[in-house]
Amino acid sequence: MKLSQEKYTELVAAARAARGGSYSPFSRFAVGAALLTEDGRIYTGANVENSSYSATVCAERVAIHYAVASGERAFSAIAVVGGAADEELPDECLPCAVCLQVMAEFCCGDFEIVTADSGGEIRVHTLEELLPRRFRL
Ligand code: THU
Repeated sequence: MKLSQEKYTELVAAARAARGGSYSPFSRFAVGAALLTEDGRIYTGANVENSSYSATVCAERVAIHYAVASGERAFSAIAVVGGAADEELPDECLPCAVCLQVMAEFCCGDFEIVTADSGGEIRVHTLEELLPRRFRL
């Protein structure tokens, strides 16, 4: 754990707020993400679904691509909060493997993935833990 407890709490709160922007009429599973840059800026995203299904983009990738397209290249953590759209405090939601691979494009193994469960308990994982044998060119 490389950030303060206050920072993890702030990041989870930003992911919860971003989740409000989810467009998920097909799955009714709303996800929010908040990405922290190494110099302390936060970029948020929510999942945006599409009737063609495969065009759906996860919350994490919305946040990461927004940050990268804004010129950011160095990241320290991402908070992810997701679950049934009508649940205010869903249980822990971990990133899908595609999102983990996108994280691996820009982040090292010590990049942190921050989640919260329905009781509000914050958990900190690393990219190394969640995608230990990742693809590299
Ligand atoms: N989803 C995310 O936003 N992030 C993930 O890491 C996994 C899944 C979204 C995609 C889809 O809109 C919904 O959750 C159900 O799969």
